[in-house]
Amino acid sequence: MNQGKRVGIVGAGNVGATVAYSLAMLGSCHEIILRDNKIEVAKGKALDMSQAAAAVRSHTVVSVAESMEELTDCDVVVVTAGSPRLPGMSRDDLLMINANITKEVVSGIAKYSPNAIIIMVSNPLDAMTYVALKESGFDRSRVLGMAGILDSSRMAAFIQEKLGYGGGQIRASVMGGHGDDMVPLPRYSTVAGVPLFDLLTEDEINEIVDRTRHGGAEIVGYLKTGSAYYAPAKSTAIMVEAILKDTKQIHPCAVYLEGEYGYDDVVSGVPVMIGANGAEKIIEVTLNEKEKEMFARSCNSVQTLIDTLNENKFFEEA
Ligand code: 2OP
Repeated sequence: MNQGKRVGIVGAGNVGATVAYSLAMLGSCHEIILRDNKIEVAKGKALDMSQAAAAVRSHTVVSVAESMEELTDCDVVVVTAGSPRLPGMSRDDLLMINANITKEVVSGIAKYSPNAIIIMVSNPLDAMTYVALKESGFDRSRVLGMAGILDSSRMAAFIQEKLGYGGGQIRASVMGGHGDDMVPLPRYSTVAGVPLFDLLTEDEINEIVDRTRHGGAEIVGYLKTGSAYYAPAKSTAIMVEAILKDTKQIHPCAVYLEGEYGYDDVVSGVPVMIGANGAEKIIEVTLNEKEKEMFARSCNSVQTLIDTLNENKFFEEA
């Protein structure tokens, strides 16, 4: 039980609301506070979820903050606010729109929940995590981005589908940014400890890698009017729980690099030990030359977005 813990969720759309629902069903915290410009919709969802929590005898209460001023003293704040990714739109197209939204939201979090750990979910994920870090002024351990758990879960699901067995025993590993050049790592993926290369052909593995890289777009293609939310939300809830329960378990997350993997002043997805203090340790995995090249390409893509923000004097207005 984590009596007294407060989790704020900014953006009560499909992802934000599903994070809240997931946490409420688990009784992960005492209170979940939804913040959304559509206040009436947020209120309806909050009531509905509080009633669902009562149905499963969870002690979690879901309420609504009508402004950022009411989002006070949260232990964790999840940011899903932003324009969603629509068909034909890359995550990067969202850059300037969502950077401005993130800037406003994060300055509110820094003011009203100054001790919170921020989990960014809005896209483009790595760049938004960078914006959140710079705008909050928080230590890098307190600003994380959700994507590695999602991308690894997608890869695991595709491995299971290809194999036709092994469900629940798959450990898939994806590093790098949450973009088309993310870095799935078949060499570090196993089924019950059996290396993937002993189970599938190279062509089959390449297909899985490619499908993982485009896993978000595949779902957008079906949904047409929005993007995935069950797996993104569950992946976020796993991070929130790891913080609230101080699990000290390793999860792939987007964090600000300060020399790790040879990169500085950029955000990328790497294995992170998560505890009550957020990203308590960044783990450095040994990569071979090909993997290093892919990781470099991914970091460079994120760097391009950060450069675009800088060219637009985004960080100077603060
Ligand atoms: C996803 O991967 C849109 O980034 C989101 O589903």
